[in-house]
Amino acid sequence: MSMDYYREYILDHYRNPRNYGKLEHPDAHAEDSNPLCGDQLSIDIQVEGDQVAAVRFQGRGCAISQAAASMLSEMIEGRPVEEVVKLGKDDVLEALGIPISPARTKCAFLSLRVLHRSLAIAGLERPDQEEEE
Ligand code: FES
Ligand code: FES
Repeated sequence: MSMDYYREYILDHYRNPRNYGKLEHPDAHAEDSNPLCGDQLSIDIQVEGDQVAAVRFQGRGCAISQAAASMLSEMIEGRPVEEVVKLGKDDVLEALGIPISPARTKCAFLSLRVLHRSLAIAGLERPDQEEEE
């Protein structure tokens, strides 16, 4: 796929974020901000059995941070929790599909960090599995 394709794909997720919003009664919730720009992101997750039944995110930020959150939400919905806890930076970079400069990695990984934090707070993964920059 060409770079242009991926740029368009990122912009599409930014303009039409998937799974945007909040859940009434989330089983897992966390929020955080990018210390460099103050942009914020929150994630709500509903777990049924051993699967992520629903996910919603809300945030304010650049195209990369918001598109990554949108892509991540698609990646985890309907997926077994034991797979979701293993998602890492490579999965986000693969989804974004274009090289991310070092200055933008905090944008790209904001949602991943919030996701792991929410799962750790909910006791669904060990806190030391939380990805740190
Ligand atoms: Fe603002 Fe990423 S921190 S561009
Ligand atoms: Fe703030 Fe990218 S500029 S998250």
